[in-house]
Amino acid sequence: MGLYADRVLPRVIDRVCASGIVDPWRERVCAGLAGSVVEIGFGSGTNVPFYPAGVEVVYAVEPSARAWALAAPRLARSATRVVETGGDAESLPLADDACDAALMAFVLCTVPDPARALAEVRRVVRPGGRLHFLEHGAAERAGVLVLQHLLDPLEVRLAGGCHLTRRPLELVRRAGLEVEWHESGRARGPAPWSQFTVGVARVP
Ligand SMILES: C[S@@+](CC[C@H](N)C(=O)[O-])C[C@H]1O[C@@H](n2cnc3c(N)ncnc32)[C@H](O)[C@@H]1O
Repeated sequence: MGLYADRVLPRVIDRVCASGIVDPWRERVCAGLAGSVVEIGFGSGTNVPFYPAGVEVVYAVEPSARAWALAAPRLARSATRVVETGGDAESLPLADDACDAALMAFVLCTVPDPARALAEVRRVVRPGGRLHFLEHGAAERAGVLVLQHLLDPLEVRLAGGCHLTRRPLELVRRAGLEVEWHESGRARGPAPWSQFTVGVARVP
């Protein structure tokens, strides 16, 4: 891994993702989580302060050692048990039906094969369990969407594989998950990065 990807990018992601702008969205995506949860793309633990008391254990999947180091202060302040659990969304080191829920925040934009990552969610979350998701993606406004397509190749290179134009709701539905509720809207911040979708989908 290069110096930029190893040292710089996790810090930038931590700064951007931990900005207060996202907090209300994190509260919403984490609400209702309970029992054993797999958090995919755990990053620097930006969701940790928002885990509800009913969460017993979090199996955290995150490939970046630097992100784990940045997560340490948040983990130290949390009472929730968090277990470092390998590093690849597309091949989760967990047994079938091992979890009550999965949490993904700003991850479907980045994983190389989101369909495969969501198939893994279906495998490790028990039937009747839930995927809680919070993602940015393709803008509703045509002009912004054009800009996103122009920026996308640069974003992929500079932001660790992140795409601006994926459609998280469609990805979740296409994976066979039953969307129970979702909300899409503009967050504060630059338009190409600010079309957010938050929701919960049931594993059939
Ligand atoms: C934009 S960050 C989001 C971090 C965190 N979920 C948040 O909301 O702040 C995306 C994270 O996904 C991780 N990631 C990238 N590829 C991954 C993969 N194949 N499996 C699991 N995590 C991955 C990155 O290292 C990064 O920490």
